[in-house]
Amino acid sequence: MDILIINGGMPRGGRTEFITRFIAKEYQFHYIDIGEIKLPLLTGEQEQWQLPEVVSFKEKMKMADGIILISPEYHGGMSGALKNTLDYLSREELAHKPVALIATAGGGKGGMNCLNNMRIVMRGFYANVIPKQIILDPDCFDYDGNKLWEEPRKLVEEMVKELEMYVKISTNLMLPGK
Ligand SMILES: Cc1cc2nc3c(=O)[nH]c(=O)nc-3n(C[C@H](O)[C@H](O)[C@H](O)COP(=O)(O)O)c2cc1C
Repeated sequence: MDILIINGGMPRGGRTEFITRFIAKEYQFHYIDIGEIKLPLLTGEQEQWQLPEVVSFKEKMKMADGIILISPEYHGGMSGALKNTLDYLSREELAHKPVALIATAGGGKGGMNCLNNMRIVMRGFYANVIPKQIILDPDCFDYDGNKLWEEPRKLVEEMVKELEMYVKISTNLMLPGK
């Protein structure tokens, strides 16, 4: 089962990068860091589709059986950089694919709008966004221990299990595009 986790935040050393790497390591998932691949602002010019980083990103997304998208909430939505990166994709890579969502937020009850925004955008790709979703506030992180505290870690565990269940179901159904 090939699950790909996407760090949808650009800042180096941020909580979104931390959690992406933490989950990737814990579950041995492949990951993509949008701050590393740095796709250019989409202009629609033909040359952009031939860029090696664009071709590779699209190929990895297509090959994945399931995706975990993680974004910081920025002003009530996902990060603009993540939206720009996702705009290089089409239904070809994502239709029917199980996708799990995590938002990192600043506390103060933020994060839900980012999740809703990602869910709507994934709907545009006909992706199958799973029911469980998580918001990680700053106090979910054990910075000294380089890990998540037990309770948020359990939420991640439950979400990963649910994602794997949906991946198994969709693999058994041999959905189009795979
Ligand atoms: C430009 C900007 C906008 C933000 N807007 C929100 C917001 O609307 N709601 C929220 O809960 N947090 C907001 N935050 C806080 C971030 O979501 C939070 O600090 C998150 O952990 C940042 O991710 P990072 O640690 O990977 O950089 C914002 C931060 C920035 C830099």
